[in-house]
This record gives sequence, C-alpha cells and structure tokens, in this order.
Amino acid sequence: MEAKITLLPGDGIGPEVVNEAVKVLTAVAAQHTHTFTFTEKMAGGIAIDETGDPLPEDTLGACLESDAVLLGAVGGPKWSDPKAAVRPEQGLLKLRKSLGVFANIRPVKVFAALADASPLRPERVQNVDIVFVRELTGGIYFGQPQGREMVDGLRSGHDTMRYNEMEIKRVVNVAFKLAQGRRGKVTSVDKANVLASSRVWREVAHEVAAEYPDIEYEDVLVDAMAMYLVNRPGDFDVVVTGNMFGDILSDEASMISGSLGMLPSAALGEGMLGLYEPIHGSAPDIAGKGIANPLATILSTAMLLRSSLGLEEEASKVETAVSQVLAAGYRTADLARGGETAVNTQEMGDLVVKAL
Ligand code: IPM
Ligand code: MG
Repeated sequence: MEAKITLLPGDGIGPEVVNEAVKVLTAVAAQHTHTFTFTEKMAGGIAIDETGDPLPEDTLGACLESDAVLLGAVGGPKWSDPKAAVRPEQGLLKLRKSLGVFANIRPVKVFAALADASPLRPERVQNVDIVFVRELTGGIYFGQPQGREMVDGLRSGHDTMRYNEMEIKRVVNVAFKLAQGRRGKVTSVDKANVLASSRVWREVAHEVAAEYPDIEYEDVLVDAMAMYLVNRPGDFDVVVTGNMFGDILSDEASMISGSLGMLPSAALGEGMLGLYEPIHGSAPDIAGKGIANPLATILSTAMLLRSSLGLEEEASKVETAVSQVLAAGYRTADLARGGETAVNTQEMGDLVVKAL
C-alpha cells in the first residue's frame, strides 16, 4: 500500500525519538513492500522560533492531506514564560481540534520483562492491561471564556469546563466499542459530586451504557480513581474520561508500566486519519543527549499501522519486536536499574529494527 505520513518531530527529545520510529516504519515498509512517504513539518516551539506560529498553515495543510501524523513532543523551558502570548502547546491543541481527533487512546500495559521496573509491587502490576480513552477536543482545554483579568484589583484567571451531549456520547461510544473487543468492562471517570459538566457526562454515559448490555459498566469519581490506579490497577479494562482528568490519570497510570517513556497514544476521529504521539513530553532535561527512550514513539507507530493504515499484522510485529528487545534485557536509561547497562536512543531503535 501507499501511505503519506506527516512527521512533526517538535521540540526537546521529539526529533530523537521520531527518528527511531521512522527507522522502524521504513523497515516495515521494506519488508512488506509498502511505500510510505514521509513529509517533515514544524510544530511547537521550533515553529514559534521560525515562524511565530506554533502550527503554521503549511504544517496543518500537510497533516490534513496525509493518512497519518506522527508527533514527537512540543514545549520546553524556552517557551514556557507564563506571560508569553504564543505557546507551543497551543499548536498541539489546535492540531487535535483541526484534525477532529476527539478520542485519545492511551493503552497502559506492563511488559512482562519490565514488571520490576514499576514502582508498584510486581504482583500488583502483573495483570495490568488498561486502555484509557481520553476526550481530546473539548472540556476545560477548549472551553470559552478563558483568560486573565484584574478582579477587585487582584490578578485573576479563569477557564471554562463544558461538555455537550454529542461530545460525550461519541467518545463514550468509542470506549464501549473497544471494550467489546477486550475484557468487556468500561469505567467512566468524572467528578459528578461537584461539577455540573460531570453530571451531564454521567447522565449521557449511562444512556450509552444502556445500549451495550453485554458490557459491564461503572462510574468512578476522579479522586477515587487516582487511588484505585495505585491499589488495584488490575481491575480496569477500558477507562473513559474527559480531557483534563484523562491527561492527569494517564500520566499516573504510566508509572504502573515503569516509565512514561513506554506509553504510546493514538488520537482518532470519525475517519482513518489519526494523530500518533508518545504520551511523554519533550523532556528538556535530557534533550540532545541521545539517551531518551524511543519505545513510546515506536509503539505509537504500531498504533498508526493498525488504526490509520489497517495493517494489523505489521502493527503486531512491531509490538512483538519491542517485547523481544525488552525480554533480551535491553534497557534505555529510564528503565535500567542498578547494575544494568543502558543502551542509547539509536541503539534501542536499531535493536527493534533488528528484531523485526
Ligand atoms: C499530553 C500533554 C499535552 C496535554 C500538553 C503538552 C498540551 O500533556 O498529551 O498529555 O495536556 O494534552
Ligand atoms: Mg499529559
């Protein structure tokens, strides 16, 4: 098959990890005689430096014309002045919104070889296999009004958390469909005891649940969920929640797997075009050192192959290759424990290509 893939390496470790992911995609294409055409564009801080805009027209245009978009990371201390008028993250939010990718799929799985890299006891993490479905184009990230102003002589800021039934229904549906192909359980997370938007969320989620009598369903409050993810993470299958709760809980859950550097994600909408990114950020502290873990981005390419290109066999091969490399004992610095020698970013990428 022929596919157009737009690459947005972005900032910090983004370019380093995207480089390794491209090696993997290139190897897959060669093995299966596919033609993947890569177009690299600027997004985030680097785009602000070069053009003043974190998502230049030309970048968005290329993304809209492609079959899939692979993003590294955006942001960093250089652009994080709280008073800055333009921010790298605005580019990412605009990209998600413009692509219409409202469902962010974030799987949290523990690779057998990494069970002891988790800060939780191995017996607690053994059976963990959760898929987070985070609403990605609504909620408090996008609600208007938003801004800062002086109120009674005091510096103030405000955001708006708003969801309508259409936005809730379509993302909760994604969660139920996923659960049908898995262990058949959906957990919806909200803060319905305090927030009006969460009460609408819960009401609509119940209506959707009624259409899937074969799926077990529960509501959990977000504060309780934060606790359950630590003391009984093995109990969850598909977890669906709003934009901000999903942002926070998926970082928490990533620790179950041992490292934020392991978790991929796919942002999907109505069509096949998807936005794929590791859930970790730009990690400015280690950028340029060549030691970042490229596995989250490599695993994101597996999701890309599966969900945007329909290449299930190729996707599984990439995932198997990653498992094999880990089982053979190779670790990047974030995963290496006392005494283990770490491989660098490029070596890890090469090992996965070799295992393919
Ligand atoms: C994520 C990140 C982003 C988010 C930032 C970089 C805007 O934390 O993808 O989880 O909050 O969505
Ligand atoms: Mg986040």
